[in-house]
Amino acid sequence: MSTIRLPGLVDAHVHLREPGYEYKEDFATGTMAALAGGVTTVLDMPNTNPPTSTPERLADKARRAAAQAVCDVGLFVGATNTEADAYLPVAAQACGLKIYVSDTFGSLRIDTLALMHRLFRTWAEQAAQAGYRMAGAPHGLGPITVHAEELMLPVCLALSQLYAAPLHIAHVSRRSEIELIRAAKERGLPVTCEVTPHHLFLSTEDRARLGARGDMRPCLATPDDVAALWEHLEAVDIFATDHAPHTLAEKGIGVNATAASLSPSSPPPGVPGLETMLPLLLTAAHSGLLELDDILARCVENPRRIYGLPEQPATWIEVDLEAVYTLEDSALKTKVGWTPFAGQRVHGRVERVVLRGKKVYEHGEVLAQPGEGRVLFAAARD
Ligand code: DOR
Ligand code: ZN
Repeated sequence: MSTIRLPGLVDAHVHLREPGYEYKEDFATGTMAALAGGVTTVLDMPNTNPPTSTPERLADKARRAAAQAVCDVGLFVGATNTEADAYLPVAAQACGLKIYVSDTFGSLRIDTLALMHRLFRTWAEQAAQAGYRMAGAPHGLGPITVHAEELMLPVCLALSQLYAAPLHIAHVSRRSEIELIRAAKERGLPVTCEVTPHHLFLSTEDRARLGARGDMRPCLATPDDVAALWEHLEAVDIFATDHAPHTLAEKGIGVNATAASLSPSSPPPGVPGLETMLPLLLTAAHSGLLELDDILARCVENPRRIYGLPEQPATWIEVDLEAVYTLEDSALKTKVGWTPFAGQRVHGRVERVVLRGKKVYEHGEVLAQPGEGRVLFAAARD
């Protein structure tokens, strides 16, 4: 029997692009891609247009997701320079607060230490009343999740310690970063972190071959950085995709790539990932780099604990561990229809997904109706 049943995966870092960039992805196509990848819960980032930085915008996003999603969706709120802590009244309806302090796509970026103090302080003050959702309790606040590379990482660690605010570091990519996080954990700081499949399985050596398909933030790192992520896997709490779709035309690739479709100097960074994470991880398990339990800890149990996600009763995925095939652009559900892993042979195929007792995906076909996914924490309001 090569088909096994696993819990539905959580992808704690996705960009479903709605509102504002629906030509790249939307709640329907993004969550269809999730099911195809064996993912039954996604946590959606706030760098949309407009960004998810006010109660009204969170409510609007929740309504859109509730109407269209085919898997469960948690929504981040995002900190901005201008609206500061406008999201605070709905902090407990978000899966967490996302702060960008490093170079990225979109307008969200915090520029000053003074504002960082304020964001950590106000989130911690709110949590002093509502509690943190860490223990899996349905109420309270999620962690502060940061895109903080290089020298911005110790800044966030210091603020997290100062305000006793749980901190989650998104997409760690460098040796210096994972070593610092490991040391911080050993000293008892309330910090967790995630690593993406592209930072585990690709490096600067792949940049020339991939061109703009290999451009994302953080950038692909050196083979030594990649080796460090594997060396310190114990310190990696979550595997998450940073599913960040952009069209090939925007990337300057293919027949539709005209000068007008390109941003003048910089094609947008980011790569899709929802449909390739599990096969890539299972392929690593097949070659002895990982155990199946390492995958389940990082794709189910830890994200559920860190973000206090509810259980999904009667929910599982069926995976044929012996299926061997080649990842291809044409098989993908993501609206942008490409992956940096095209051409790669992988082991392990998602055959079927059952969500709350209902078959929602089978053999390449999504069977769920729009709106069958639930919005976590932020019930859509009128
Ligand atoms: O490569 C990236 N793309 N990194 C990010 O942090 C943002 C993302 C996006 O939204 O496109
Ligand atoms: Zn991201």
